[in-house]
Amino acid sequence: MIKYLEKEKLFKIDTVTTSYIIGIADDKYAGHAYYGKRIPDDDVSYLMRINEPPFVPSVNNRDKLSFLDCFPMEYPTHGVGDFREDCIAVRNKDGYSGLELFYDGYEITDKKPHLDGLPQTFPSESGKSETLKLYLKDDVLGLKVTLLYTAFEDNDAIVRSVIMENSSSDPLYVTKALSACIDMDNKDFELMTLNGSWARERHIQRNPVGIGFAGVSSVRGETSHQHHPFLGLLSKGADDDHGDVYGMHFIYSGNFKGLVYRGQFDNVRMMMGINDEDFTWKLEAGQSFATPEVVTVYSGEGIGKMTRTYHDLYRNHLIRSPYKDKKRPILINNWEATYFDFNTDKLLDIARESSKLGIEMLVMDDGWFGNRYDDNRALGDWFVNGDKIKGGLKYLVDEVNKLGMKFGIWFEPEMISPDSDLYREHPDWAIAIPGRTAGLCRNQYVLDITRDEIRDYIVERVCDILSSANIEYVKWDMNRQLADLGSLYLPADKMGELSHRYVLAVYDMQERILARFPNLLLENCSGGGARFDPGMLYYSPQIWCSDDTDAIERLKIQEGTALLYPLSTMGAHVSVCPNHTVGRNTPFETRGYVALAGTFGYELDVTKLSDEDKAMIPAQCKMYHKYRDLVTLGDYYRIASYSDNGYFDAYMTVAKDRSESLLTFVQVMNRPNHHSRIIKLKGFDSNEKYLIKKFNIETGEEEPYLSYMKKPLSGDTLMNGGIIIENMWGDNRGLLLHIVKA
Ligand code: GLA
Repeated sequence: MIKYLEKEKLFKIDTVTTSYIIGIADDKYAGHAYYGKRIPDDDVSYLMRINEPPFVPSVNNRDKLSFLDCFPMEYPTHGVGDFREDCIAVRNKDGYSGLELFYDGYEITDKKPHLDGLPQTFPSESGKSETLKLYLKDDVLGLKVTLLYTAFEDNDAIVRSVIMENSSSDPLYVTKALSACIDMDNKDFELMTLNGSWARERHIQRNPVGIGFAGVSSVRGETSHQHHPFLGLLSKGADDDHGDVYGMHFIYSGNFKGLVYRGQFDNVRMMMGINDEDFTWKLEAGQSFATPEVVTVYSGEGIGKMTRTYHDLYRNHLIRSPYKDKKRPILINNWEATYFDFNTDKLLDIARESSKLGIEMLVMDDGWFGNRYDDNRALGDWFVNGDKIKGGLKYLVDEVNKLGMKFGIWFEPEMISPDSDLYREHPDWAIAIPGRTAGLCRNQYVLDITRDEIRDYIVERVCDILSSANIEYVKWDMNRQLADLGSLYLPADKMGELSHRYVLAVYDMQERILARFPNLLLENCSGGGARFDPGMLYYSPQIWCSDDTDAIERLKIQEGTALLYPLSTMGAHVSVCPNHTVGRNTPFETRGYVALAGTFGYELDVTKLSDEDKAMIPAQCKMYHKYRDLVTLGDYYRIASYSDNGYFDAYMTVAKDRSESLLTFVQVMNRPNHHSRIIKLKGFDSNEKYLIKKFNIETGEEEPYLSYMKKPLSGDTLMNGGIIIENMWGDNRGLLLHIVKA
């Protein structure tokens, strides 16, 4: 997979269908030679343009800056004359921050290096991986930098990170440490990003890349609702099936920066890593710092192939949970059902009714602890509220278990309310700048979990609750962003470490809790989907996608999320109408089809549902059990996007062996005087014959599809001719087709 060509001084990383080539120019500079479709030739160093003027510095130091101005640098450095955006900046004790990295050897290993305290990809049990360690150094600063590139034998992604080590005898201050850069020629690129807000996370946006900067970032201390740590560079007009696509996705849950810079010579630099705003990391002599991983993917066959590469990578090489490939219990969460107004009786009423309908787990959301009667108080007081949970937590859980259901619980462990016993006892535990009134958000502060004693206390409280009853699921929430960044514990020259330390602390807490409860099903959440990122997937196999449970809004949110994430990771529930976020009415049936593209569950009060809606729940549960493997383990294909066409949405999941597939179609807007649509399907074996069956929500069974499409059709016909979708009466109507090898 990875080889070094001594004569040519080139490193060639070959994945299943791609090649990534790094050259060493002038015996010193690591340069980017090629990334794209797998190529057979080795010597492509000419692609770094080192044979043309401006000459390399050893020949022409007179114009070294001209060289640095255009050389495709593999890991650009700060302050020596590459005036484009750089990846690394380090200041020494005297305040100098010029930095130049020269090649210093390499190693190729089949043992993937471990990055302490960080979420990271790993080889599958039977599969092989190889890692290139490219050593660079700056003798003036006394800094060693290792660029890491890992390829897995079964996947097209390349995973990158960087380790920097202080080899001097004085402290160094790292003020910028990005994880990856690709410096390439412009292909008239378009930039694809995922952006949004609370209740409308990860909407896809696409813009042409002009001269200058474009990108996404977060300084909110978490990934954020607003932007996502993903960059997609697409050749102009690339679609789901055609065109060049370069993706970068960051395995991290805090402040990030993803930048694209198109420069004077039309070259494009694409980079991703920890946001350098407010970031400084002190490296004492001998210490090292590892950046989180960035996953780069190239697809020469459009966006869809990039998507499937990410899905497979995350399913096979990132998610660790024992639930990874297992069926998740169909849950019912009481948040939208009751908000804070619940007690043991109410929860048991919901559980009793749910268990009769086929629902498998009750999740008790916010409001079960301290005096948490609303969202103004009690975060940090992780003791069961005996007035609400009469009989105690164990009694409630036992009663739920007796109904044959599992039990799950909500926590927001990183927070502290000013009106809480914890805050009254430890006002210094909140993140704040001394002398400044810290801003509140949802009337809460953030705990300084970078401090060991605070982390220990909270982990202990969570574990104590979890050991007190048979709790099999935790929803870990985080409902505000970080501001007023101050820790009473960090010294002045380490204060710039707080944001990153905070993220490491979240990882550490989840790691410790999972070590104590290895079979716990953990679902991360952050005011909906503000911490939906690959970092969290390392700890939780599913993440709450958005507080917006409206099926139609979800089409966009889930499309953007599924661009990178397997459907098995997307928390999705059926809720009531009019929807609590947008007031829209959608048929119960459609709400179920849309939630099926995720973990599937309910977020409503079953005791208050109409008989008609309630009657559909057993059929929906059947639907989930029938198609769950196909949906979560299969290949995802986008067929049509409501955000593009304004009328309808369609996507498929196809079994890896191409033997069956599921098509979800949602007619968002009916169109007058329009009889039917022909849509072309994807992912079949060309010559195999397939039968189309329709899922019937009334019976929970399948029935033949249209009378004139009863006969088996070949994969080629389905993919090129397509199938008919007849017009449905009304808006927001859904259809589920199971297409099976005949
Ligand atoms: C966040 C979550 C919701 C719910 C509330 C509880 O907004 O995203 O699902 O848990 O907190 O306060």
